Amino acid sequence: MAILAAVFAGASVGAWVYATRKHPAPAPVANAYVDGAVCATCHPKIAATYAKTGMGRSFARFRQEKLIPFAKTFYHKASDTYFSMILRDGKYYQRRWQIGFDRKETNIDEKQVDFVIGSGNHSQTYLHLTSRDALQVLPLSWYSEKGGYWDMSPGYDQPDYPGSVRPVHYECIFCHNAYPKIPEPLAHSANPEMTFLQPLQEGIDCQRCHGPGKRHVKAASTAGTPEQIRAAVVNPKRLPPDREMEICMQCHLETTSLDLPHSIRNFEREPFSYIPGQPLGDFEIAFDRPGGINDRFEIAHQAYRLRKSQCYMQSAGKLRCTTCHDPHDIPRGDAALSHYNGVCETCHSGMLQRTAIPPHVPRANCTGCHMPKRRTDDVVHVVMTDHFIQRNRPPGDPTAPKAEVIESPATMYRGEVVPYYPAPLANTPENLLYTGVAQVRDRRNLDSGLPKLASLLDQYRPAQAAFYAELGQGYRAAGDFAKSIPYFAAAAGKEPTGFRLLQLGNAEMEARQFPQAEAALRRATALSPGEPAAWGTLGWVLWQQDKGAEARSALERAVALDSELPELHNNLASVEWGIGDQAAAEQHFREALRIQPGIADWRLNFARVLATRGEIPEARFQFEEAIRLKPDLAEARVDYGRLLGDHGELPAAIRQLETAVRLQPELSRAHFELGMVLGRSGNPAAAVTQLKIAANGSDAEVRAQALEVLGQLGR
Ligand code: HEC
Ligand code: HEC
Ligand code: HEC
Ligand code: HEC
Ligand code: HEC
Ligand code: HEC
Ligand code: HEC
Repeated sequence: MAILAAVFAGASVGAWVYATRKHPAPAPVANAYVDGAVCATCHPKIAATYAKTGMGRSFARFRQEKLIPFAKTFYHKASDTYFSMILRDGKYYQRRWQIGFDRKETNIDEKQVDFVIGSGNHSQTYLHLTSRDALQVLPLSWYSEKGGYWDMSPGYDQPDYPGSVRPVHYECIFCHNAYPKIPEPLAHSANPEMTFLQPLQEGIDCQRCHGPGKRHVKAASTAGTPEQIRAAVVNPKRLPPDREMEICMQCHLETTSLDLPHSIRNFEREPFSYIPGQPLGDFEIAFDRPGGINDRFEIAHQAYRLRKSQCYMQSAGKLRCTTCHDPHDIPRGDAALSHYNGVCETCHSGMLQRTAIPPHVPRANCTGCHMPKRRTDDVVHVVMTDHFIQRNRPPGDPTAPKAEVIESPATMYRGEVVPYYPAPLANTPENLLYTGVAQVRDRRNLDSGLPKLASLLDQYRPAQAAFYAELGQGYRAAGDFAKSIPYFAAAAGKEPTGFRLLQLGNAEMEARQFPQAEAALRRATALSPGEPAAWGTLGWVLWQQDKGAEARSALERAVALDSELPELHNNLASVEWGIGDQAAAEQHFREALRIQPGIADWRLNFARVLATRGEIPEARFQFEEAIRLKPDLAEARVDYGRLLGDHGELPAAIRQLETAVRLQPELSRAHFELGMVLGRSGNPAAAVTQLKIAANGSDAEVRAQALEVLGQLGR
């Protein structure tokens, strides 16, 4: 149950990013996007240079001629996993596997590489297109540093990295490609899976900065005057400074890649509806921690860091991205040096003459000292130019290697989340509501954020369902399931979609209101019969009510809809085990682990099953894996200790059980099993001490067992 809840919590938090509403974005009259290739017919020179930039190459279908050589098997130590890239019949695959208890390959997964994200200027990540038209991130990436090497994708250098099934969110594609077409119902309703209509375009196209091109092309191909032709397309140069910067900021402003949230899209807007020239603030609001991002430096930092610079703040809108960059044509090498030096000189013309400050000699590389390259914190295999223009070069080597650090509950920032852009944010009810949502969405400020958002909803009673669901989600995150339900119910009342009912049913399940949850989830499956999460959650709720056969068939239906959601296999296996189909349970536990091998709790479940079925060598292996993945998982040590004890390995058993007792002193079962093993190893005094602790513990079943043994010992 906890597993399912956690998994679905993850799924719906993801869904949050792109929750949208019915009203279409304001679109210019009689204008529309055209195929990005059309622009090249009349602007061939610009198209040719642009095609060489990172933006022009940021997303592409896999092509054999672009293949990067893969020399030898890559071994990832933290997850004990092997990877290779395989070319077969013109198709490219990423294969991963582990070595099992019998020294043979196990948990084998092979995915076709359909798309490549990233030009390779810094790195490339490989994507797989599923039969459901969703994109998935593959765990092994290529990095260009040091002549090029392979390593884990950003965020994947972890023992429990998310397998090869993590979905590519609309947000990724928003920053890395031409606008894709998405299924109509997705644009207009909140739905947890992000799918794309084919064919996907390849690369950020001209219209991401120039707006929809249909009217312009029409004017240019008919008898439009030059004025009409020009007026029909957005030229960033003719926009006010803010509007111009925002064209770049739509993709280059990300206050942090951590879940803060760094921005919240207007609930009325579809995912791909920002239009250059319109205020970015109407589309989304960016958020940050108070006082800025401290010194975290991330891959999409450019706008954020530049805006901190004196050059930006004191030049009244004169300094923009385009002051230094012609996005159609990016200079490299020597040309780059003189280009950027030239730009500095436009404002700091005196500097070159001021050779009295020693470094400022002619042809000095201004940016080398004032905008040094630096390793990013979120993609540790990449070095980027710091756009915070500083007087003094930061001390130390900013490109020194660093390890990937994933935020932990213990270290994460908790506190107020403040609006960053537009700055200042107008004090409207709507903006207050979004700022309220920002406090709770990623759990940064639950303590004061939850009551604040609740009172804002009370005061303004917004029409959009999403505000209520956000608060419901916030209460869930705080573990207050009962309080979350009325808000999910309000959201489902305003927007009775399968997705909203799934959220409601999920919350009712967590609050252990199983009949209510069943009712909501039955409505959800009726409205969205193709939604695996709805069937999967329904199955689990039925199981909680001891409806084994129905639970199994709902979960089987979920698995048939999407056979790649590992938690569905794990839950189906639990039900199968519960109703006595051990063979089927074993198979589904295996499948869950094949898809996502790094989940300690699943390894533990599976080890218990194997131990019960007498498959001892593999059971031992799985216990050890569970403990390796999560050394503080006391339950795993208890069961492993017991297994070792049963097989006469008493010292090893005692070591595991003593560790369990130390990790979780209130776990009665640990004391009981330790007592039993100590007894068998000829240490009755210590055994009695442990059994007495168990006999006074809170677990009634263990208490009875302990008392019985103590009775037999005459104590
Ligand atoms: C049929 C030919 C044709 C096509 C196709 C075409 N353009 Fe143009 N474009 C022109 C002409 C002609 C001008 C005006 C040149 C001048 O300033 O005299 C122009 C000017 C522009 C300008 C500058 C506007 C200004 O304010 O000065 C931009 C930006 C532009 N085009 C972008 C695009 C984009 C983006 C596409 C693809 C969606 C595109 N063009 C497709 C012919 C075309
Ligand atoms: C807020 C916009 C944004 C989002 C969201 C985003 N990226 Fe990026 N990404 C950037 C920017 C900006 C850069 C750095 C520009 C550069 O590399 O020159 C970048 C760089 C990259 C690169 C390296 C490209 C190179 O230079 O070779 C890869 C690969 C990449 N991103 C993949 C992803 C994936 C996968 C996702 C989704 C999980 C994602 N990005 C989400 C904006 C974004
Ligand atoms: C990343 C944003 C971006 C992309 C993508 C982009 N442009 Fe531009 N474009 C600009 C900006 C900014 C300007 C104004 C440059 C300036 O300050 O002169 C501009 C200006 C222009 C102009 C008018 C000025 C000139 O140089 O003649 C044309 C024409 C043009 N772009 C065509 C295109 C075409 C065609 C494409 C696709 C091949 C394209 N642009 C892609 C940002 C972009
Ligand atoms: C649609 C999203 C998007 C927009 C709009 C956008 N960028 Fe980018 N930009 C990116 C991404 C993503 C990359 C990295 C692409 C890669 O290398 O794979 C990038 C890379 C770049 C690079 C490095 C390119 C290279 O070849 O070295 C520069 C410079 C840049 N952008 C400047 C700009 C400027 C200036 C603007 C505004 C006029 C702008 N960008 C608008 C997403 C965007
Ligand atoms: C659009 C004009 C403009 C451009 C272009 C520009 N700067 Fe500046 N810069 C300023 C202004 C204004 C200040 C603040 C006043 C001052 O210190 O001169 C400033 C300040 C600085 C400072 C002092 C910063 C501090 O914190 O004390 C440095 C260093 C600097 N610029 C370096 C550069 C370099 C290097 C470039 C080129 C990469 C550059 N600037 C491009 C306008 C500009
Ligand atoms: C004062 C000049 C200046 C301004 C303003 C500026 N950049 Fe840059 N940018 C640079 C320099 C210098 C480089 C490094 C170029 C190189 O290594 O060839 C760079 C590199 C980049 C890169 C490539 C990746 C990297 O970091 O090496 C991206 C992306 C980028 N800039 C985006 C932007 C965006 C977006 C803006 C506006 C928010 C912007 N830049 C404003 C000077 C500037
Ligand atoms: C070798 C490193 C180095 C190079 C190269 C360099 N600078 Fe500096 N610059 C510095 C240092 C260090 C200071 C701070 C001096 C101080 O505070 O006394 C400085 C100060 C400045 C200032 C602030 C000056 C003031 O009076 O407050 C500006 C503006 C500036 N540099 C611009 C440039 C430009 C433009 C270039 C390229 C022509 C350049 N720098 C090249 C190291 C460098």
